[in-house]
Amino acid sequence: MAVAAGRPTEQEVPENPLTVGLERLPVAPTTLVIFGATGDLARRKLLPALYNLAHEGALPERFFLVGVSRKEKEDEDYRGECEEAIRRFSRRAPDEAVLKGLLDNVRYVPGTFDEDSVYTQLGEVLDGFEKEAGEPLNRAFYLSTAPSFFHVIVEKLGQSNLASHETADVRLIIEKPFGTTLEEARELNRRVLAIFEETQVFRIDHYLGKETVQNLMAFRFANGMFEPLWNRNYIDYVQITAAEDLGIGTRADYYDQAGALRDLIQNHMLQLLCHVAMEPPVNFAAEEVRNEKVKVLQAIPEPTAAEIPKMAVRAQYTAGHAGGEDVPGYLEEPGVPPGSNTETYAALRLEVDNWRWAGVPFYLRTGKRLARKVTEIAVTLKPVPHLAFSEGGSLGVQPNQLVLTLQPNEGVSLQLGAKIPGTRMKIRPVNMEFLYGTAFLSQSPEAYERLITDAMRGDATLFTRNDEVEAQWRICDPIVTAWESTPGPLPTYEAGSQGPEEANSLLRPGDRWRAI
Ligand code: BG6
Repeated sequence: MAVAAGRPTEQEVPENPLTVGLERLPVAPTTLVIFGATGDLARRKLLPALYNLAHEGALPERFFLVGVSRKEKEDEDYRGECEEAIRRFSRRAPDEAVLKGLLDNVRYVPGTFDEDSVYTQLGEVLDGFEKEAGEPLNRAFYLSTAPSFFHVIVEKLGQSNLASHETADVRLIIEKPFGTTLEEARELNRRVLAIFEETQVFRIDHYLGKETVQNLMAFRFANGMFEPLWNRNYIDYVQITAAEDLGIGTRADYYDQAGALRDLIQNHMLQLLCHVAMEPPVNFAAEEVRNEKVKVLQAIPEPTAAEIPKMAVRAQYTAGHAGGEDVPGYLEEPGVPPGSNTETYAALRLEVDNWRWAGVPFYLRTGKRLARKVTEIAVTLKPVPHLAFSEGGSLGVQPNQLVLTLQPNEGVSLQLGAKIPGTRMKIRPVNMEFLYGTAFLSQSPEAYERLITDAMRGDATLFTRNDEVEAQWRICDPIVTAWESTPGPLPTYEAGSQGPEEANSLLRPGDRWRAI
């Protein structure tokens, strides 16, 4: 196989045992079409991800990219924009030859997504690529647009016969949010599945593409020592945190409609919960893994109106000090409507009512403008049944805690009780740690690199299935409805803080939120 320019040849790569097993999988020749090609996601994430795949030789040998967007512009102008985005946002400095190779195969189709002419022109461009390649090319349509266009584009693709191909695979990749209510999610599924088969559809949840989220499965199912403890007999409670120090930036339009529950809990955090709670799949095929995740979601009871105030807390940040600067409160952020009741913090206590987890609380919390950015899963084990140490020595004995950190400093840490050196039997917690950065000699790929590759390969394991997304909404919908019908003002927390006091009301006596 030819080595892409800029990559070291095999002879130049030093033998290193830590890199063993790191590899890229083959992908069939493909044309990727990005709808919303000039948007923020395309610029910040998709184009840099494509560049990095090209850099690693992980794109198919024949790879073409088409950008579709409203603004009128020439291919050359769009290529310039792609180049600018890659130079600015790529995780590695671009190699000129690799970048040129990628940009040479980029085209642009202008127009609004409901115009028939867009799809006619797109069809011509796709056919042109196939002629140039001398073979059929798989097609992947990536919907990176405002959600109101998802069904419009899907229907137009269907009407213009672009949803299938006689001799190649056609796939549809859909960004979040997948609906803003259960009803909307169902309706979108119905419209998408009227045109595409479920096996063609790849609903993105970028958390699933994170190495550390996939490592959760390796951690649970490739090690004999944790699984025997992984149940209600040994685990006291589970706490999942996705805290951010950033505010809403320039996304007020989107965020004020969404809020923290829809933005992070309905998708990313429920996915994390599923990975912690799922039964071992018989294999890692897409259907098997997703079947197990759906079972977890189905075991979470739909919250009733009476329970919601006791199991869900929301709040909004006020002005404070975060990320090293003084920052305004949510209501003072540009674009936020006066008096908005949108939550920038949400915390839930959920239960997974099944044999393994009955009675174990799963605490979830997320928020903008908290003390720092940290995403972690903390599993607290039950306390030891008896302390034989004298009172002074017992003070430092804490239940074991296993913390899986997704970001930053990806790794796993196990908190154990250890004797403090000295003549007395004094105990304090210490950490046994594994850090991704030091154990493997490679930078983790960005989530989108993995997800784009998998979608092009037709592997749906790391994508949300139709019933899964509806099962997520079944849990979140009643909370959204209750919150939207309860007038504010909301509880508040100062920017840069640990979040609202009210979050403590979700905890059982003795349980504690970890410091952010
Ligand atoms: C996105 C949300 O899905 O995830 C953002 O819309 C959030 O509001 C982001 O900031 C967090 O992703 P990550 O990968 O930085 O944890």
